[in-house]
Amino acid sequence: MDTHESAVLKLFVVGILVNVWMMRGLSATDSFSTEPTPLWPRKACNESRLQWEVEICGEDFKRDMAHIDPQYWCNLTHFISEYHLFTLCTETKSQIVHCYWPNPLVESYIIRVHKHFFSNCTMEQVVWVDPPDDTLTILILIPVFLTMAMIALVVWCSKRSDILA
Ligand SMILES: *[C@@H]1O[C@H](CO)[C@@H](O)[C@H](O)[C@H]1NC(C)=O
Ligand SMILES: *[C@@H]1O[C@H](CO)[C@@H](O)[C@H](O)[C@H]1NC(C)=O
Ligand SMILES: *[C@@H]1O[C@H](CO)[C@@H](O)[C@H](O)[C@H]1NC(C)=O
Repeated sequence: MDTHESAVLKLFVVGILVNVWMMRGLSATDSFSTEPTPLWPRKACNESRLQWEVEICGEDFKRDMAHIDPQYWCNLTHFISEYHLFTLCTETKSQIVHCYWPNPLVESYIIRVHKHFFSNCTMEQVVWVDPPDDTLTILILIPVFLTMAMIALVVWCSKRSDILA
């Protein structure tokens, strides 16, 4: 094997390793909020019922938040357990009505709830678990480019071995 080929091979292995590592990193961060529940819904998702069910979750959350002094509404430490219960509630209800979780309906409802309670909070006050959009975009784009680069490498290598054969 000449040095050129071994260099390509090394690059290839490094590419795979980085790719696997990125994927693992992504799924690890994703599992908290965005990974769909593995349960495959057998019946169709009843959206009107889901809407009604998540409103109940929202009402419970409002009731729980009312017990917290509004001056602490921007401090995650003070409402993390209530917020967790709310998220769990939307997840459970989604499963009951045979819908995936998360889903667009639940997401838009959660955004509405966020707007209601956290519209006056500044970014320094509330630290959300998800990375900012820019970071997320970069994290998603890197494996995509790596995969494309690897495909290009495979095509290039196979063409090269065709010529050599
Ligand atoms: C969805 O749920 C609503 C309210 O429970 C019910 O009236 C309706 O029949 C359901 N739709 C389907 C397609 O199951
Ligand atoms: C949030 O509340 C906790 C506990 O009361 C406190 O230690 C922390 O400093 C607060 N954080 C902010 C940003 O106000
Ligand atoms: C946000 O501020 C506006 C204007 O000061 C106020 O009317 C509203 O009640 C506040 N909302 C929350 C959730 O604190």
